[in-house]
Amino acid sequence: MQIETSQSSEEILLQLKNELIKAGEGDGRYFRVFNLSSVKAAGLSADSRMVVLRAFNDEWEFEFYTDIRSSKIEQIRTCPKVSALFWDPENRIQVRIDAESSVHNRDIISEEKWSLVQGDAQKAYTSLVAPGTPIEKPGEAHKWPEVFSSDYFSVVRCAANNIKILQLSGREHLALEFRRNKIKSAWIGKWIAP
Ligand SMILES: Cc1cc2nc3c(=O)[nH]c(=O)nc-3n(C[C@H](O)[C@H](O)[C@H](O)COP(=O)(O)O)c2cc1C
Repeated sequence: MQIETSQSSEEILLQLKNELIKAGEGDGRYFRVFNLSSVKAAGLSADSRMVVLRAFNDEWEFEFYTDIRSSKIEQIRTCPKVSALFWDPENRIQVRIDAESSVHNRDIISEEKWSLVQGDAQKAYTSLVAPGTPIEKPGEAHKWPEVFSSDYFSVVRCAANNIKILQLSGREHLALEFRRNKIKSAWIGKWIAP
């Protein structure tokens, strides 16, 4: 996507949403992988890591998959406020989306999504040794049960409430901010100084 100064904030938001929906379907070029930040240790610091965008819908809700034993889960359960950072290097666009997240494990949502995770991809959520466990040698972590189960597979669903877009364009960078109070309410957007 490319932002033009002649566009309205509504047009830009719609354009962005369509890019993110495509990325969630595995079709987009750049927004498929993003940085997810969560609050760590009772708000004393933040943790960031890359995750894959698995779905993005019309209501600005998006999902990624993870192992329920990973440290991000405890952080999100303690503080559901997360920040997702996307980067399109071709158009030099950074998008930061703040969201309220919820964790789905061993429920209808996670079971439905687990059915889409096929073959070796299931290994990312079924290791015998929990993510983050100290080990003596790398091979110790490369062990899986004979039958893969969805016990540790989790879907983190995030509902966006704030969006900041920055497009680097020479010296005349462009930036916008959008806010909404709750999911399904209208976005209020404005240009901001980059
Ligand atoms: C390109 C890339 C994509 C990744 N995608 C995921 C993902 O979709 N889900 C996930 O749990 N970890 C993913 N990871 C691994 C995480 O970045 C992280 O190392 C791991 O989940 C443990 O994070 P935590 O200890 O902060 O919970 C990915 C890493 C990279 C480099």
